[in-house]
Amino acid sequence: MHAMVYRGPYKIRVEEKDMPSIEHPNDAIVRVALAAICGSDLHLYHGLIPDTRVGTTFGHEFIGVVEEVGPSVQNLKKGDRVMVPFNVYCGSCYFCARGLYSNCHNVNPNATAVGGAYGYSHTAGGYDGGQSEFVRVPFADVGPTLIPEWMDDEDAVLLTDALPTGYFGAQLGDIEEGDTVIVLGAGPVGLFAAASSWLMGAGRVIVVDHLDYRLAKAREFAHAETYNFAEYPDIVLELKKATDYLGADVVIDAAGAEADGSFLQHVTGVKLKLQGGSPIALNWALDTARKGGTVSVLGAYGPAPSGIKFGDAMNKGLTIRTNQCPVKRQWPRLFEHVRNGYLKPSELVTHRIPLEHIAEGYHIFSSKLDGIIKPIVVPQAS
Ligand SMILES: NC(=O)c1ccc[n+]([C@@H]2O[C@H](COP(=O)([O-])OP(=O)(O)OC[C@H]3O[C@@H](n4cnc5c(N)ncnc54)[C@H](O)[C@@H]3O)[C@@H](O)[C@H]2O)c1
Ligand SMILES: [Zn+2]
Ligand SMILES: [Zn+2]
Repeated sequence: MHAMVYRGPYKIRVEEKDMPSIEHPNDAIVRVALAAICGSDLHLYHGLIPDTRVGTTFGHEFIGVVEEVGPSVQNLKKGDRVMVPFNVYCGSCYFCARGLYSNCHNVNPNATAVGGAYGYSHTAGGYDGGQSEFVRVPFADVGPTLIPEWMDDEDAVLLTDALPTGYFGAQLGDIEEGDTVIVLGAGPVGLFAAASSWLMGAGRVIVVDHLDYRLAKAREFAHAETYNFAEYPDIVLELKKATDYLGADVVIDAAGAEADGSFLQHVTGVKLKLQGGSPIALNWALDTARKGGTVSVLGAYGPAPSGIKFGDAMNKGLTIRTNQCPVKRQWPRLFEHVRNGYLKPSELVTHRIPLEHIAEGYHIFSSKLDGIIKPIVVPQAS
């Protein structure tokens, strides 16, 4: 089969790989119909995630058709059209029992902090991902769900991470009626967080980025006020001015460890890797939240980013909430929002890329060329 393969930072190819096989009675093999590339994949592509081994296939966002099931699988059968959450999880450990699927204790022998994810390096369990013609899905009775008849494929693939994560970010913000919410980052995750904030009663939603085409999308798709941080000498001051010098009730960091906005932090954290990424967006979040406010961190951070203004967070009495999204927990509510038309996730899809051209897709997405927001990968399996 053909699969995307990592060859080193900024180097990916499509190669012939062995077909995945059933390794455990509760495995399934899924023929991938659509996969997506995520901002999280860019951290892998840039070589920022430890233990990303040469030969790994990325892709934690995918949907497809069940090709084969192991002997103990009861909930799926060959031919089922399924969506698969990006988390690999057992469904029965202490954490899964509490709905903390992204913190599953049974699926990742390499770390205790993070659970399992498809195509996200050996730090996240070493599972191959779905930017491929076929993928092995462990715990097949636990994560995958039949795609409802009425749901479009492109909506379904965005429900495997981007939309649930954005929605989760708004949930972690504990938004109360009338709250002012600032979202840092107008990628798919930030745009979904902004749109979801309205559903939770926000009175004002402000989105910050430095890419004008994404800010235009934030106005159109998420009905948000927007700020281009590159246009202001001090974006924190500007956002303070915009919020009566109090700051926002809730700030959502949807940018993560590769954020721009500080040359020094970007060079030391992202280019030279002297610290685990750049904390600039996180610090802007801590700075622009009002005292007693809540900071919700969705953006991915490496093991030890330094230079975080933790003292300020403490003195301001901030509540900081964060996690990888437990995707399946979000589905019942989100299925309703999609069916009722409150959210149309596929509106963010800008590029549909054949698997054979995925290297070009990564390049365009990484360099933010061609108005890219969300690229979808289409394998040619038949
Ligand atoms: N918690 C989770 O479960 C989870 C799931 C998916 C993605 N993520 C993380 O969320 C983040 C966003 O993902 P995405 O797919 O939207 O990525 P993306 O790369 O498409 O978007 C990130 C956006 O942030 C902007 N940005 C850069 N520096 C900024 C700054 N200082 N302030 C404001 N905006 C800034 C970029 O211009 C870009 O538009 C990534 O770090 C990703 O790893 C987390
Ligand atoms: Zn993702
Ligand atoms: Zn578990």
